[in-house]
Amino acid sequence: MIDQAYYCGLVDKLREKRDLSDEELRDVLLCEDGEFAAYLQTAAREVRELHYGKEVYLRGLIEFTNYCRNNCFYCGIRNGNPNVERYRLSEEQILSCCDQGYDLGFRTFVLQGGEDPYFTDEIMVSLIRKIKENHPDCALTLSIGEREKESYRKMFEAGADRYLLRHETADKAHYEMLHPKALSFEHRMQCLHDLHDIGYQVGCGMMVGSPMQTTEHLLKDLRFLQDFKPEMVGIGPFIPHHDTKFKDEPAGTVEMTIRLLSIIRLLLPEVLLPATTALGTIDPMGREKGILAGANVVMPNLSPTDVRGKYLLYDNKICTGDEAAECIRCMTARVEKVGYKVVKSRGDHVRFTSEQTCK
Ligand code: 5AD
Ligand code: FES
Repeated sequence: MIDQAYYCGLVDKLREKRDLSDEELRDVLLCEDGEFAAYLQTAAREVRELHYGKEVYLRGLIEFTNYCRNNCFYCGIRNGNPNVERYRLSEEQILSCCDQGYDLGFRTFVLQGGEDPYFTDEIMVSLIRKIKENHPDCALTLSIGEREKESYRKMFEAGADRYLLRHETADKAHYEMLHPKALSFEHRMQCLHDLHDIGYQVGCGMMVGSPMQTTEHLLKDLRFLQDFKPEMVGIGPFIPHHDTKFKDEPAGTVEMTIRLLSIIRLLLPEVLLPATTALGTIDPMGREKGILAGANVVMPNLSPTDVRGKYLLYDNKICTGDEAAECIRCMTARVEKVGYKVVKSRGDHVRFTSEQTCK
């Protein structure tokens, strides 16, 4: 029998934006009691509804290149994997994905890719300008890894609004266990700060249950999020990929992922928080569970169907065979079934809504 009053008191404290000690936060992460888990989720839902009501925002994900110069140990499309059939979408194909997405009701496009040297600043700037010219009422998110500050600035000036760059782990030693020497924790952090300085809405995040991850690492991640205050946080379970050295590691769990979603919602009440594809991959109801735990964003895939199966960061990824129209129909139905509503809007962070609507 757990001390209900103590544990629920911790949730109340979080909801009231009072800081928890490390020990208390550890207790929230680890408490296995079912009633406590439900109490935490209810609090997270209340807070999300206070800021965003029942709205769920859509992001159209365009996986435009699976070339990558990096070799992150956990990632299926890492440079060192010879079994990946590499592709890169043409500008025309990307623009056509956006047009199709627009007709389906998307008002945010996410250009996601590996760190592909083909996409120079010049090529990116020209692409960003064209997307924003064609769809001035849409937000554009980039997720193309680490670049120099000047590069981030050029792309922002060309019209990009948001940038996703997961920090992966806030612990330097853990970062080094997940990445080869060529990648540094310090540079990752530098990039995140540069992006914020420039004015992007920034998203960071980590995998839940990544190899060697401990509760202390998660605690550090939460402290980092509290301190950095990103506008978006992307978290999903780690899922092993058969062509990586972590192929035999266990996947992260749905329980811990949704627990973290709720905690993050309480720590950063206004954050844009997706129920990710990885969460939907480890549990057929994962995305619904994520929404019920405080998530307010879903990211259906808009990539052409013939390349979907080639952008596999992890095994058994869902939605690789579905047309964009089918994905949006399916997502809308899933969201409605749990009492929420997919909306046709840019879905900016509340801090950015007034200043960005006339852009
Ligand atoms: N399992 C789950 N998530 C993964 N990512 C990369 N590889 C995996 C994996 N095996 C996540 C990383 C990256 C994001 C684009 O996808 O966190 O930042
Ligand atoms: Fe893609 Fe359900 S979201 S098929």
